[in-house]
Amino acid sequence: MNIVNGFSKLTKQQKINWLVETYFKNDQTVVQLLKLYWNSNEELQKLHDEFIENTITNFYLPMGIAPNFVINGKTYTVPMVIEESSVVAAASNAAKFWSKRGGFKATVLSTEKIGNVHFMFGGSKHNLVQFIEKLQPVFRSRTANITRNMEKRGGGILSIVLKDKTAELKNYYQLHATFDTKDSMGANFINSCLEEFANVLREEVSNFDLFTTEEKESLQIVMSILSNYVPNCLVRAEVSSKISDLKSKEIENPQEFAEKFVQAVRIAEIETYRAVTHNKGIMNGVDAVVLATGNDFRAIEAGVHAFAAKDGKYTSLSHAEIVGDEFRFWMDLPLALGTVGGLTNLHPMVKFAMKLLEKPKADDLMQIIAVAGLAQNFAAIKSLTTTGIQKGHMKMHLMNILNQFNASADEKTAVLQHFAEKTVSHSAVVDFIERLRR
Ligand code: MEV
Repeated sequence: MNIVNGFSKLTKQQKINWLVETYFKNDQTVVQLLKLYWNSNEELQKLHDEFIENTITNFYLPMGIAPNFVINGKTYTVPMVIEESSVVAAASNAAKFWSKRGGFKATVLSTEKIGNVHFMFGGSKHNLVQFIEKLQPVFRSRTANITRNMEKRGGGILSIVLKDKTAELKNYYQLHATFDTKDSMGANFINSCLEEFANVLREEVSNFDLFTTEEKESLQIVMSILSNYVPNCLVRAEVSSKISDLKSKEIENPQEFAEKFVQAVRIAEIETYRAVTHNKGIMNGVDAVVLATGNDFRAIEAGVHAFAAKDGKYTSLSHAEIVGDEFRFWMDLPLALGTVGGLTNLHPMVKFAMKLLEKPKADDLMQIIAVAGLAQNFAAIKSLTTTGIQKGHMKMHLMNILNQFNASADEKTAVLQHFAEKTVSHSAVVDFIERLRR
């Protein structure tokens, strides 16, 4: 067993030495590899080292850009950080397609964030209701230091409500608090407020005369934490067009295309196996922009998938319909995002992404990211219901296969020419390279 004590206190070089001795038989090429990925600018490297604990090197992902996104009449070039080869190409394709058909429309429907103090109480609910009622101004005054700046920016605590959960878990109640955190994601703000609410509960319980001694003793705080489920922090992204206007190089029969497209979405609405993959395609676009803009993609993923299952069954996030001669495709997405605070003020590439998007407010970023998801979904369903996904996917994947085989520049040119009009498959590419090399 390679248990190590006090690891975080070692220097970066000592950590690498331990790693290479313990797992790589002291192979110095591993050290060289890790150092190859260090930034030569020491200040920049230090910044990255300090984002997390025990940093040994950096891990690169490509950042691409998808131009021609027309959203509410304004044109954006959208930064995307992702490893999957076809995602940026698909986003660009869908953006260009819709730019010629009026662009995307996006609307922020709500911006409320949520946090809970989870606690146990084994007494009279009636008394507890009175207690929480009496504490309402105390919750506010005790968090005044935390909320002052947020209130100046127009945000703050919206409500603090007692929820009775005892039917599902004995003695379990919550303070369910809602917040407006304006342009920050607000995690620290919300958690600080919640912990102070919990302190208030803890401290005030013994002073509340209606409670018996047993009731006072039964109140126990379990935890205080924001929720990443944000069904009331919602943005809608949509496109619509006359069906005949959908005609393009790839869509010869727009009526047939629209009908098949709607069927594909219906399938994702009723069939969980399909819904998960359908929504994964949406998240290809969403996560790529969330990452590029320094937001928390785990929080977004968790919240979005919970939303997809909000009615008790996991279903499609997007919807489509044909009304008369009109095709409509839309999606509501819960997105709690920040454009200030966190990585947004620190990571140079995040700052770059924000500048590229013309310094969006959180509301603007919600719209851009929901549109990126819808565009990705449109591109995927368009491919799936027409050419199939592999044609475009393998074309983009071709370069990965060539790199796996350390293809030279000449070999790459020959392969790209050969497959320009042919179906790409892993084995066909390998055969072709082997023939070239013979
Ligand atoms: C691949 O990353 C995403 C797709 O599978 C999405 C979909 O099937 O809708 C193409």
